Amino acid sequence: MAHIRLVSVSKKYYKNRPLIPGASEGEEEVIMALDGVNLEIRDGETMSILGPSGCGKTTLLRVVAGLEKPDGGYVLFNGEDMENVPPRDRHIGIVFQNYALYPHMESQQNIGFFFKLHDREDEIPERVHAVSKIMGIGFDKLLDRRPPTLSGGEQQRVAVARCIARDPSLFLFDEPLSNLDAKLRVQTRGELKRILARYATTGLYVTHDQYEAFALGDRLAVMNLGRVEQVGTYTDLYYKPVNLFVAEFLGVPPMNTFRGYVNDRGGWSGDDFQWPIIRPGLEEGDRVVVGIRPEHIRVEESAHSVPAVVDLIEPLFAERAKLLYTKIGLTRCNVRVGEAFPAKVGDTLPLTFQLDELHFFDTRTGARLG
Ligand SMILES: Nc1ncnc2c1ncn2[C@@H]1O[C@H](COP(=O)(O)OP(=O)(O)OP(=O)(O)O)[C@@H](O)[C@H]1O
Ligand SMILES: [Mg+2]
Repeated sequence: MAHIRLVSVSKKYYKNRPLIPGASEGEEEVIMALDGVNLEIRDGETMSILGPSGCGKTTLLRVVAGLEKPDGGYVLFNGEDMENVPPRDRHIGIVFQNYALYPHMESQQNIGFFFKLHDREDEIPERVHAVSKIMGIGFDKLLDRRPPTLSGGEQQRVAVARCIARDPSLFLFDEPLSNLDAKLRVQTRGELKRILARYATTGLYVTHDQYEAFALGDRLAVMNLGRVEQVGTYTDLYYKPVNLFVAEFLGVPPMNTFRGYVNDRGGWSGDDFQWPIIRPGLEEGDRVVVGIRPEHIRVEESAHSVPAVVDLIEPLFAERAKLLYTKIGLTRCNVRVGEAFPAKVGDTLPLTFQLDELHFFDTRTGARLG
């Protein structure tokens, strides 16, 4: 059982720390890899950590694992402060992006190494046998091979097996699938999900792939610049993003966002078009960003439709849909239509926005309005 809590955790790195200590002190540029992170991972849940490159995901995982010391704040496991608990006593299993298998050891030695290290060598055969059954068909064929002779996908399976053989209370995954090709990634993702569900072990799953984050995480935390922007289920994040960053980060393709202001008719005006409505509570002159997802725009004439020119068309085969990249004047707007929709590049189409699906954000702070 593991219930994890991070309280105001900060971690800073120094960019180009001078080689001679004190040499150019004060001029060092500080990177806040983690900037006051508060996060709770409930017992038995898998939390996906999603965010762009460099936002602090790996740092977060390393701090939870005890491989990095935070500069501020606390990491609590079941309410206990982990400050003085070394990684090996935290009952964690980690799978790194590059798998970090010992190259000179056969897979079964890789899996058993932890037990050898802890004078529990007699457990190894049973552990290897058990984990090999869990990992499924064909895994036993990998046991007597060394990592350099294995494919990326096979190494990944060995790394996961090594992690679960230790029976950890907490799984930590750092983009474990990113080296696999698209097909294998989906397959392995399913395998991993089954394993996670079977063990009901608490887990942290770091990725910058939204599909993976949704598929594996019970809840998601979206990070940006060392901060957690929002935590919630996929539905929470997708339909009620707390700010512009989350709104624009989630969704493939992402939400359309338009900058504008509240006009003297109580509506909203952008650079190239206007809307008759605005959220109550806003005043004339307020600068507001309006957002709408591509699937919430219909191609049809209406009292409020605006003309858009099709710029580019992209098929979305799996969804039996097409994505139209359009321009309303100079404003770009992506629209999702059914695969049979007869659009050509250069066509002018009337776009009707579903007004109840609009999102409003403060231009200055990016915060959601209402
Ligand atoms: N050892 C280090 N020294 C200096 N800066 C570092 C160090 N490790 C990480 N950083 C910086 O801290 C920030 C967060 O890095 P981190 O590796 O946690 O990002 P990430 O979200 O895992 O990114 P990616 O998706 O590319 O793996 C980045 O700006 C990175 O350049
Ligand atoms: Mg990383």
